[in-house]
Amino acid sequence: MQVLRKFESEIEADVLNNMIRLARAAAANAHAPFSHFHVGASVLDDRGRIYSGCNVENICFGLSMCAERNAAAAAICGGARRLRAVAIYTASESLSPPCGACRQVLTELGPKMEVHLVNHENEHVIFTMDSLLPSGLPAEQISS
Ligand code: THU
Repeated sequence: MQVLRKFESEIEADVLNNMIRLARAAAANAHAPFSHFHVGASVLDDRGRIYSGCNVENICFGLSMCAERNAAAAAICGGARRLRAVAIYTASESLSPPCGACRQVLTELGPKMEVHLVNHENEHVIFTMDSLLPSGLPAEQISS
């Protein structure tokens, strides 16, 4: 598992702070009446734009959606095609790495993206997506 130190991040500090601010704001809007686990995510695309999303749960539990995939969907809708980083904020003590489904979806948009995990105490850990999903199915393999 590759854990980067903060100074090894390729994202500029002010951009990263903005990503974390937006992820935190998104978490405040989470719809999590069942788990009470509020998650916010923001993604940075290669044009420097940031999009956010929160988890949205549903009484049909299988229809619930993670914050990361909602942020990725917002990015695609806004014209993003390539992501450089994702910030995942949890309004709790736990740092929340992306679930398997989110890893697969995010990998397609940025196989080497930085993955920043932040909790409510501002603890901050950084991974790379290719260390969280080694040998992920490359989109090119299917689409070419
Ligand atoms: N959740 C996310 O939104 N992202 C994660 O990385 C982990 C889990 C959500 C899904 C569900 O609404 C709640 O957290 C509990 O699993």
